[in-house]
Amino acid sequence: MSDTIITVKNLNTYFYTNQRCNRALNGVSLEIKRGKTLCVVGESGCGKSVTASSIMQLLPKLCRIEQGEIIYHSEDRGDIAIQDLERNGKVMRSLRGKDIAMIFQDPMTALNPVYTIGWQISEMIRAHEKISKKEARLRAIDLLKSMGIPNPEKRVDEYPHQFSGGMRQRAMIAMAMSCNPKVLIADEPTTALDVTVQAQIFKLMDELKENYNTAIMLITHDMGVVCELADDVVVMYMGNIIESGSAQELLGNPQHPYTQALLKSIPMLGKGANQNLNPIKGSTPDPLNRTKGCQFAPRCDKRTEKCDEIMPEEQLVGKTHMVRCNLFCSDMKGVN
Ligand SMILES: Nc1ncnc2c1ncn2[C@@H]1O[C@H](COP(=O)(O)OP(=O)(O)O)[C@@H](O)[C@H]1O
Ligand SMILES: [Mg+2]
Repeated sequence: MSDTIITVKNLNTYFYTNQRCNRALNGVSLEIKRGKTLCVVGESGCGKSVTASSIMQLLPKLCRIEQGEIIYHSEDRGDIAIQDLERNGKVMRSLRGKDIAMIFQDPMTALNPVYTIGWQISEMIRAHEKISKKEARLRAIDLLKSMGIPNPEKRVDEYPHQFSGGMRQRAMIAMAMSCNPKVLIADEPTTALDVTVQAQIFKLMDELKENYNTAIMLITHDMGVVCELADDVVVMYMGNIIESGSAQELLGNPQHPYTQALLKSIPMLGKGANQNLNPIKGSTPDPLNRTKGCQFAPRCDKRTEKCDEIMPEEQLVGKTHMVRCNLFCSDMKGVN
Protein backbone atom coordinates (compact mmCIF):
# COMPACT_ATOMS: atom_id res chain seq x y z
CA MET A 1 0.00 0.00 0.00
CA SER A 2 1.41 3.36 -0.96
CA ASP A 3 2.05 6.02 1.69
CA THR A 4 -0.01 8.48 -0.30
CA ILE A 5 -3.76 8.60 0.22
CA ILE A 6 -4.65 11.52 -2.05
CA THR A 7 -2.74 12.66 -5.12
CA VAL A 8 -3.64 15.97 -6.74
CA LYS A 9 -2.03 16.41 -10.15
CA ASN A 10 -1.95 19.61 -12.20
CA LEU A 11 -5.33 20.77 -10.92
CA ASN A 12 -6.89 23.71 -12.71
CA THR A 13 -10.09 24.99 -11.13
CA TYR A 14 -11.67 28.13 -12.58
CA PHE A 15 -14.47 30.50 -11.60
CA TYR A 16 -16.66 31.98 -14.30
CA THR A 17 -18.23 35.17 -13.00
CA ASN A 18 -19.36 38.24 -14.97
CA GLN A 19 -18.04 36.65 -18.14
CA ARG A 20 -14.56 36.62 -16.72
CA CYS A 21 -12.48 33.62 -15.87
CA ASN A 22 -10.61 33.51 -12.58
CA ARG A 23 -8.00 30.77 -12.58
CA ALA A 24 -8.34 30.09 -8.86
CA LEU A 25 -6.13 27.00 -9.17
CA ASN A 26 -3.56 27.12 -11.90
CA GLY A 27 -1.80 23.76 -11.91
CA VAL A 28 -1.79 22.60 -8.29
CA SER A 29 -0.04 19.30 -7.49
CA LEU A 30 0.27 17.85 -4.01
CA GLU A 31 0.19 14.61 -2.05
CA ILE A 32 -1.56 13.84 1.22
CA LYS A 33 0.13 10.98 3.10
CA ARG A 34 -1.51 8.40 5.34
CA GLY A 35 -1.20 9.27 9.01
CA LYS A 36 0.55 12.60 8.35
CA THR A 37 -0.43 16.24 8.56
CA LEU A 38 -0.03 18.27 5.39
CA CYS A 39 -0.26 21.99 6.07
CA VAL A 40 -1.40 24.20 3.21
CA VAL A 41 -0.36 27.77 3.81
CA GLY A 42 -0.61 31.10 2.01
CA GLU A 43 -2.28 34.49 2.20
CA SER A 44 -5.99 34.99 1.76
CA GLY A 45 -7.24 34.36 -1.78
CA CYS A 46 -4.37 32.09 -2.88
CA GLY A 47 -6.63 29.09 -3.46
CA LYS A 48 -6.49 27.06 -0.24
CA SER A 49 -10.25 26.66 0.16
CA VAL A 50 -10.80 26.00 -3.54
CA THR A 51 -8.23 23.18 -3.30
CA ALA A 52 -10.20 21.67 -0.39
CA SER A 53 -13.57 22.11 -2.13
CA SER A 54 -12.19 20.55 -5.31
CA ILE A 55 -11.13 17.44 -3.37
CA MET A 56 -14.52 17.26 -1.64
CA GLN A 57 -16.40 18.04 -4.87
CA LEU A 58 -18.15 20.84 -3.01
CA LEU A 59 -17.42 23.66 -5.45
CA PRO A 60 -19.84 26.54 -5.98
CA LYS A 61 -21.96 26.45 -9.14
CA LEU A 62 -19.87 28.88 -11.17
CA CYS A 63 -16.72 26.96 -10.48
CA ARG A 64 -15.35 24.06 -12.54
CA ILE A 65 -12.41 21.70 -12.52
CA GLU A 66 -11.04 22.33 -16.01
CA GLN A 67 -8.06 20.04 -15.96
CA GLY A 68 -6.10 17.75 -13.71
CA GLU A 69 -6.60 14.78 -11.47
CA ILE A 70 -7.59 14.11 -7.88
CA ILE A 71 -6.95 10.47 -7.06
CA TYR A 72 -8.13 8.89 -3.83
CA HIS A 73 -6.07 5.77 -3.14
CA SER A 74 -8.65 3.65 -1.35
CA GLU A 75 -7.45 0.62 0.59
CA ASP A 76 -10.40 -1.55 -0.40
CA ARG A 77 -11.65 0.00 -3.63
CA GLY A 78 -8.41 0.85 -5.41
CA ASP A 79 -7.76 4.23 -7.02
CA ILE A 80 -10.79 6.49 -7.45
CA ALA A 81 -10.59 9.51 -9.78
CA ILE A 82 -12.58 12.08 -7.80
CA GLN A 83 -12.58 14.67 -10.57
CA ASP A 84 -14.61 12.31 -12.75
CA LEU A 85 -17.26 11.62 -10.13
CA GLU A 86 -20.58 13.39 -10.20
CA ARG A 87 -20.65 16.01 -7.44
CA ASN A 88 -23.67 14.52 -5.77
CA GLY A 89 -23.55 11.10 -7.30
CA LYS A 90 -23.62 7.88 -5.33
CA VAL A 91 -19.85 7.28 -5.22
CA MET A 92 -18.99 10.81 -4.09
CA ARG A 93 -21.69 10.69 -1.42
CA SER A 94 -20.31 7.39 -0.17
CA LEU A 95 -16.80 8.87 0.09
CA ARG A 96 -17.82 12.12 1.76
CA GLY A 97 -17.90 11.70 5.51
CA LYS A 98 -16.88 8.05 5.48
CA ASP A 99 -13.53 8.26 3.68
CA ILE A 100 -12.89 11.98 3.41
CA ALA A 101 -14.40 14.36 5.94
CA MET A 102 -14.10 18.10 6.23
CA ILE A 103 -14.20 20.62 9.02
CA PHE A 104 -14.97 24.18 8.06
CA GLN A 105 -13.97 27.55 9.43
CA ASP A 106 -17.58 28.24 10.38
CA PRO A 107 -19.15 25.22 12.11
CA MET A 108 -22.61 26.33 11.02
CA THR A 109 -21.61 25.37 7.44
CA ALA A 110 -21.74 21.77 8.60
CA LEU A 111 -24.24 21.88 11.49
CA ASN A 112 -27.95 22.26 10.90
CA PRO A 113 -29.55 24.68 13.41
CA VAL A 114 -32.87 22.82 13.55
CA TYR A 115 -31.57 19.42 14.69
CA THR A 116 -29.86 18.44 17.92
CA ILE A 117 -26.11 17.81 17.84
CA GLY A 118 -26.67 14.17 18.77
CA TRP A 119 -29.21 13.61 15.98
CA GLN A 120 -26.81 15.08 13.41
CA ILE A 121 -23.88 12.93 14.49
CA SER A 122 -26.09 9.82 14.65
CA GLU A 123 -27.47 10.45 11.16
CA MET A 124 -23.96 10.85 9.79
CA ILE A 125 -23.01 7.45 11.24
CA ARG A 126 -26.28 5.82 10.07
CA ALA A 127 -25.77 7.14 6.55
CA HIS A 128 -22.70 4.93 6.26
CA GLU A 129 -23.21 2.07 8.72
CA LYS A 130 -26.11 -0.23 9.47
CA ILE A 131 -26.60 0.37 13.19
CA SER A 132 -29.65 1.16 15.33
CA LYS A 133 -30.58 4.68 16.41
CA LYS A 134 -29.79 3.75 19.98
CA GLU A 135 -26.29 2.52 19.14
CA ALA A 136 -25.64 5.59 17.01
CA ARG A 137 -26.67 7.85 19.86
CA LEU A 138 -24.26 6.08 22.22
CA ARG A 139 -21.49 6.52 19.66
CA ALA A 140 -22.35 10.23 19.44
CA ILE A 141 -22.06 10.58 23.22
CA ASP A 142 -18.69 8.79 23.16
CA LEU A 143 -17.46 11.06 20.39
CA LEU A 144 -18.52 14.23 22.22
CA LYS A 145 -16.75 12.91 25.29
CA SER A 146 -13.56 12.19 23.38
CA MET A 147 -13.67 15.75 22.02
CA GLY A 148 -13.55 17.02 25.61
CA ILE A 149 -17.15 18.20 25.74
CA PRO A 150 -18.25 18.07 29.38
CA ASN A 151 -21.52 16.39 30.28
CA PRO A 152 -21.97 14.69 26.88
CA GLU A 153 -25.03 12.65 27.97
CA LYS A 154 -26.93 15.89 28.42
CA ARG A 155 -25.37 17.96 25.66
CA VAL A 156 -26.07 15.37 23.00
CA ASP A 157 -29.72 16.51 23.07
CA GLU A 158 -28.91 20.22 22.72
CA TYR A 159 -29.12 22.34 19.56
CA PRO A 160 -26.10 24.07 17.97
CA HIS A 161 -27.15 27.49 19.31
CA GLN A 162 -26.87 26.15 22.86
CA PHE A 163 -23.15 25.47 22.28
CA SER A 164 -20.38 28.10 22.55
CA GLY A 165 -18.16 28.73 19.48
CA GLY A 166 -15.41 26.41 20.73
CA MET A 167 -17.88 23.67 21.70
CA ARG A 168 -19.60 23.92 18.32
CA GLN A 169 -16.24 23.49 16.61
CA ARG A 170 -15.62 20.39 18.72
CA ALA A 171 -19.07 19.06 17.86
CA MET A 172 -18.31 19.55 14.18
CA ILE A 173 -14.98 17.72 14.56
CA ALA A 174 -16.86 14.95 16.39
CA MET A 175 -19.23 14.72 13.43
CA ALA A 176 -16.35 14.76 10.95
CA MET A 177 -14.61 12.00 12.90
CA SER A 178 -17.77 9.95 13.49
CA CYS A 179 -17.09 7.44 10.70
CA ASN A 180 -13.31 7.31 11.31
CA PRO A 181 -12.47 8.95 7.97
CA LYS A 182 -9.17 8.15 6.35
CA VAL A 183 -8.64 11.81 5.46
CA LEU A 184 -9.67 14.87 7.43
CA ILE A 185 -9.58 18.21 5.63
CA ALA A 186 -9.62 21.15 8.04
CA ASP A 187 -10.06 24.59 6.47
CA GLU A 188 -8.81 27.19 8.95
CA PRO A 189 -10.69 25.34 11.69
CA THR A 190 -9.79 27.61 14.57
CA THR A 191 -9.60 31.10 13.08
CA ALA A 192 -12.61 32.40 15.00
CA LEU A 193 -11.59 30.88 18.34
CA ASP A 194 -9.45 32.13 21.18
CA VAL A 195 -5.91 30.81 21.51
CA THR A 196 -6.55 28.38 24.37
CA VAL A 197 -9.40 26.66 22.51
CA GLN A 198 -7.27 26.73 19.33
CA ALA A 199 -4.50 24.86 21.11
CA GLN A 200 -6.95 22.27 22.48
CA ILE A 201 -8.47 21.63 19.06
CA PHE A 202 -5.07 21.21 17.43
CA LYS A 203 -4.11 18.80 20.19
CA LEU A 204 -7.27 16.78 19.46
CA MET A 205 -6.47 16.65 15.76
CA ASP A 206 -2.94 15.49 16.52
CA GLU A 207 -4.33 12.73 18.75
CA LEU A 208 -6.71 11.60 16.00
CA LYS A 209 -3.77 11.32 13.65
CA GLU A 210 -1.77 9.29 16.16
CA ASN A 211 -4.65 7.04 17.26
CA TYR A 212 -6.39 6.35 13.95
CA ASN A 213 -3.65 7.00 11.38
CA THR A 214 -5.91 9.69 9.90
CA ALA A 215 -4.32 11.80 7.17
CA ILE A 216 -4.90 15.49 7.82
CA MET A 217 -4.85 18.35 5.37
CA LEU A 218 -4.74 21.44 7.54
CA ILE A 219 -5.32 24.76 5.83
CA THR A 220 -4.04 27.81 7.65
CA HIS A 221 -2.54 31.23 7.05
CA ASP A 222 -0.67 30.97 10.34
CA MET A 223 2.98 29.92 9.97
CA GLY A 224 3.18 29.41 13.75
CA VAL A 225 0.60 26.60 13.47
CA VAL A 226 2.51 25.11 10.54
CA CYS A 227 5.77 25.02 12.51
CA GLU A 228 4.00 23.21 15.32
CA LEU A 229 1.87 20.64 13.49
CA ALA A 230 3.08 19.94 9.96
CA ASP A 231 4.77 16.78 8.73
CA ASP A 232 4.65 18.15 5.19
CA VAL A 233 4.05 21.67 3.91
CA VAL A 234 2.85 23.26 0.70
CA VAL A 235 3.03 27.01 0.23
CA MET A 236 0.52 28.51 -2.21
CA TYR A 237 0.61 31.77 -4.09
CA MET A 238 -2.06 32.82 -6.60
CA GLY A 239 -3.34 29.37 -7.38
CA ASN A 240 0.04 27.73 -7.57
CA ILE A 241 2.29 25.82 -5.24
CA ILE A 242 5.51 27.77 -5.03
CA GLU A 243 7.31 25.63 -2.47
CA SER A 244 6.68 22.20 -0.94
CA GLY A 245 8.46 19.54 1.07
CA SER A 246 8.75 17.82 4.41
CA ALA A 247 8.34 20.25 7.30
CA GLN A 248 11.90 19.54 8.32
CA GLU A 249 13.39 20.40 4.94
CA LEU A 250 11.13 23.28 4.04
CA LEU A 251 10.92 25.06 7.39
CA GLY A 252 14.55 24.34 8.23
CA ASN A 253 15.73 25.80 4.96
CA PRO A 254 13.02 27.85 3.23
CA GLN A 255 14.09 28.80 -0.29
CA HIS A 256 11.33 30.84 -1.92
CA PRO A 257 11.46 34.56 -1.04
CA TYR A 258 7.71 34.38 -0.33
CA THR A 259 8.08 31.51 2.17
CA GLN A 260 11.00 33.34 3.78
CA ALA A 261 8.83 36.43 4.13
CA LEU A 262 5.93 34.42 5.59
CA LEU A 263 8.26 32.92 8.19
CA LYS A 264 9.63 36.33 9.12
CA SER A 265 6.12 37.50 9.88
CA ILE A 266 5.59 35.03 12.78
CA PRO A 267 5.49 36.75 16.17
CA MET A 268 8.01 35.24 18.62
CA LEU A 269 6.72 34.27 22.03
CA GLY A 270 8.19 36.32 24.85
CA LYS A 271 9.36 39.17 22.62
CA GLY A 272 6.40 41.37 23.49
CA ALA A 273 4.21 43.53 21.31
CA ASN A 274 6.96 45.81 20.03
CA GLN A 275 8.85 43.30 17.91
CA ASN A 276 9.52 44.06 14.30
CA LEU A 277 7.18 41.74 12.44
CA ASN A 278 8.15 42.39 8.81
CA PRO A 279 4.78 42.04 7.11
CA ILE A 280 5.14 41.08 3.45
CA LYS A 281 5.32 44.24 1.39
CA GLY A 282 2.77 45.01 -1.31
CA SER A 283 -0.76 43.74 -1.38
CA THR A 284 -2.13 40.35 -2.30
CA PRO A 285 -2.44 40.15 -6.06
CA ASP A 286 -5.57 40.52 -8.17
CA PRO A 287 -6.43 37.07 -9.52
CA LEU A 288 -7.91 38.56 -12.69
CA ASN A 289 -4.65 40.32 -13.44
CA ARG A 290 -2.13 37.61 -14.06
CA THR A 291 1.25 38.54 -15.43
CA LYS A 292 3.18 36.21 -17.69
CA GLY A 293 6.15 35.78 -15.35
CA CYS A 294 6.36 34.82 -11.71
CA GLN A 295 3.21 36.01 -9.92
CA PHE A 296 5.19 36.99 -6.82
CA ALA A 297 7.69 39.13 -8.77
CA PRO A 298 6.02 42.52 -8.08
CA ARG A 299 6.49 41.97 -4.34
CA CYS A 300 9.81 40.13 -4.40
CA ASP A 301 13.09 41.53 -3.00
CA LYS A 302 15.13 39.27 -5.26
CA ARG A 303 13.27 39.95 -8.50
CA THR A 304 15.24 40.18 -11.74
CA GLU A 305 14.07 41.02 -15.28
CA LYS A 306 13.68 37.34 -15.98
CA CYS A 307 11.03 37.11 -13.26
CA ASP A 308 8.71 39.47 -15.15
CA GLU A 309 8.97 37.30 -18.25
CA ILE A 310 9.24 33.69 -17.20
CA MET A 311 6.99 31.58 -15.06
CA PRO A 312 9.50 29.46 -13.11
CA GLU A 313 9.31 25.68 -13.34
CA GLU A 314 9.45 23.33 -10.38
CA GLN A 315 13.00 22.63 -9.19
CA LEU A 316 13.97 19.95 -6.72
CA VAL A 317 16.36 21.43 -4.13
CA GLY A 318 16.33 18.59 -1.57
CA LYS A 319 15.07 15.04 -1.13
CA THR A 320 11.44 16.13 -0.78
CA HIS A 321 11.93 19.84 -1.26
CA MET A 322 10.54 21.60 -4.35
CA VAL A 323 10.69 25.31 -5.13
CA ARG A 324 9.27 27.28 -8.04
CA CYS A 325 11.50 30.34 -8.31
CA ASN A 326 13.71 31.69 -11.09
CA LEU A 327 16.64 31.93 -8.67
CA PHE A 328 16.87 28.16 -8.95
CA CYS A 329 16.27 27.77 -12.68
CA SER A 330 19.23 27.64 -15.02
CA ASP A 331 19.23 30.48 -17.55
CA MET A 332 18.47 28.22 -20.47
CA LYS A 333 15.25 26.84 -19.04
CA GLY A 334 12.02 28.30 -20.26
CA VAL A 335 13.66 30.96 -22.47
CA ASN A 336 12.01 31.24 -25.88
N1 LIG B 1 -17.62 31.78 -4.39
C1 LIG B 1 -16.70 32.37 -5.15
N2 LIG B 1 -17.03 33.08 -6.25
C2 LIG B 1 -16.09 33.66 -7.04
N3 LIG B 1 -14.76 33.58 -6.82
C3 LIG B 1 -14.34 32.89 -5.73
C4 LIG B 1 -15.28 32.25 -4.84
N4 LIG B 1 -14.57 31.62 -3.86
C5 LIG B 1 -13.27 31.87 -4.12
N5 LIG B 1 -13.12 32.62 -5.24
C6 LIG B 1 -11.85 33.07 -5.85
O1 LIG B 1 -10.96 31.96 -5.94
C7 LIG B 1 -9.65 32.34 -5.55
C8 LIG B 1 -9.17 31.44 -4.44
O2 LIG B 1 -9.99 31.63 -3.30
P1 LIG B 1 -9.91 30.76 -1.98
O3 LIG B 1 -9.57 29.36 -2.31
O4 LIG B 1 -11.18 31.00 -1.23
O5 LIG B 1 -8.69 31.44 -1.19
P2 LIG B 1 -8.14 31.11 0.28
O6 LIG B 1 -8.95 30.01 0.85
O7 LIG B 1 -6.70 30.76 0.07
O8 LIG B 1 -8.26 32.40 1.03
C9 LIG B 1 -9.71 33.82 -5.19
O9 LIG B 1 -9.28 34.56 -6.29
C10 LIG B 1 -11.17 34.06 -4.92
O10 LIG B 1 -11.51 35.38 -5.28
MG1 LIG C 1 -10.17 30.02 2.56
